[in-house]
Parts: sequence; C-alpha cells; structure tokens
Amino acid sequence: MADLIARLPKAELHLHIEGTLEPELKFTLAQRNGIELEHRTVDEVRASYTFDSLASFLTVYYDSMRVLVTVDDFYDLTMAYLRQAAADNVRHVEIFFDPQAHTSRGVPFSTVIGGLRRAVVDAGRDLGVHAELIMCFLRDFTAEHAMSTLMESLPYKHWILGVGLDSDERGNPPSKFAAVFARARQEGYLLTMHCDIDQENIHEHIRQVLDDIQVDRIDHGTNAFGHPELVAAILKRDLGLTSCPVSNRWVTGSMKTDQIVGLLDAGVKICVNSDDPAYFGAYVNENLRQLADEAALSRDQVVQLARNSFEVSWLPENLRAAYLAEVDAVAAAS
Ligand code: ADE
Ligand code: ZN
Repeated sequence: MADLIARLPKAELHLHIEGTLEPELKFTLAQRNGIELEHRTVDEVRASYTFDSLASFLTVYYDSMRVLVTVDDFYDLTMAYLRQAAADNVRHVEIFFDPQAHTSRGVPFSTVIGGLRRAVVDAGRDLGVHAELIMCFLRDFTAEHAMSTLMESLPYKHWILGVGLDSDERGNPPSKFAAVFARARQEGYLLTMHCDIDQENIHEHIRQVLDDIQVDRIDHGTNAFGHPELVAAILKRDLGLTSCPVSNRWVTGSMKTDQIVGLLDAGVKICVNSDDPAYFGAYVNENLRQLADEAALSRDQVVQLARNSFEVSWLPENLRAAYLAEVDAVAAAS
C-alpha cells in the first residue's frame, strides 16, 4: 500500500504554506533576520508542539511567522515545501496563504505574494510541480479587514485562483464574510472556506457555506457525515471536501476515519491533504498511509482518493484529464 501511495500522482488542495515552516528553516530565517527565538534546538522546537486544539495550534503557528520577513524568506519557505511535494509525487498544489498574518505585523502584501509567486514559477519549471495560490482571510479578524485585503489583492488577481477562510472558527461563522465572498466571486475568484472539525455550530456553518456563500469547495467539512441533508446537498452540487486526517488527530484527538471513509463510500469527492505538515509531522503520503492503515482501506479506495484530488481541484479540464489518466495508468500497473 505504501508503494502504491508513493507512486500515485496526487493533488494537494489543503495546505497552508505557513504551516510548512520546518524548525530547521525557522532557525535559518531567524538568524538571517536577526530574530531571537525562544528555543535553542530543533528538538526543543518539536518538543514544544503539544497543542491539542485548533486554538492552541494557531498560537504557535502565528508566533513562528515572525521569522518570515523578506521576499526571499517567502520564496525559500515555498520552494522547500514544493521540493517535498515533488518527493511525494504531488503533481498539482493549490497553496493557501494568510496575507493578514503578515501585513498585520508590517510585512507588505507585495513581499508575501512576490516570494510565493516566484517559487510557483520556479517549481513549475524545475520540479514538475504545478502550483496555484489561494488567498485565505483570517476569520478572527473583522470582515472589514478581509474586504480591504481583498482590495489589496486585486493588482495580483492573475496570480491568485481563489479565496478561502481559515483561523479560529469559534464565534466566526461563514455568514460574517458573506459580502467579502460575494465581492471575491464578482472579481473572478473561486471560493472555499474551512468548516473545521467539531467546531461549535458546525452543521449550521456547513449549511451556510452550501446555501448562503455557495462555495466551490469545502475545507474539512467532514462533520457533514451522518447528516443526510448536508451529504445530499454536497453530492447534488458535486462539491469536493479536503480532509486532513493527521491534522484532525492533533486538534481533536481522532483522525475522524469514520467520517472520511463514510463520505468516500457515500460517493462524496473527498481527498486527503496535509494542512500544516511541519507542525503535524506528516506530508500528504504519510497522511494517506496513516488513513489507509487505520481504516484498512482497499487499493481501490486509495486510488479513488487520488482521483478525487484531481477531480475537485480547480485545474483546467485538459490538465485534469491528463493527471487523471496518469493516476489510472499507475493504478492499472500495480
Ligand atoms: N490555519 C492554518 N491551519 C489551519 C487549520 N487547520 N484550521 C484553521 N485555520 C488554519
Ligand atoms: Zn486548514
């Protein structure tokens, strides 16, 4: 199974670039920028990852971003992830980035997107990994801040495929950002939103993203399992769900295998992703391996998860068809 997982071409659709900051690179960037860190060694940093909820993870995640200052820092961060993606045979990535986590501490939007975009171009040319960018708004900031960030992004619209919504969901429902997402759609962006695992009012949040926001994909959203009206709406609209099993275990204590496999078996186009792999210790192949192991997935189910990742990606049809043909060729040969 591990061999099949490694050889299958995959798309990664739920990946926060700031969540790929490995401790080694954090030390390099801290030194380069003359920033004092709390810990002295990589082991000390890893040992400090004791979060057990979304909120406790986010505290560590945002604090670490202090080391990201220059265009080169954002470039190096993104290239390091894309090299890892290539090693995992990830062929297409839709990368989330959190501009407000940087602009709010004085790093210009142009610095963030400049470094990310240069890495996307270089990786396409040198690594054979096709990548796109999705700009996420921080839902624990105001809707006005999100709207001004949306306006700030418009000169770079041709480099950004869509917008998402992340950070702390508690008390920050999708409806808070209805006007921002309506404007984003008018500007030509595709739409996705996090409906994080086991959040307060999660079923109402999933209903809002379906009915009110009318997203083009849902990040996580697996609490829909066991709620027939939500599953039916997801199936009717043929919406993709981006699940992140190892992340689920860190923030809720369970990979939520039953939800993920239950939705897969119901025909929902769910795929497997790594979320914040530097913090959760698992890139996409490791997520697939752990899910396959815990759920005793069949080879057909693993192939279906890889197919789904391309099916629900925002690739143009010709590229989608080409990658799906590659998946099918690997599946037939194994
Ligand atoms: N930002 C980075 N990772 C996140 C996650 N797993 N959920 C919500 N916001 C995030
Ligand atoms: Zn996420």
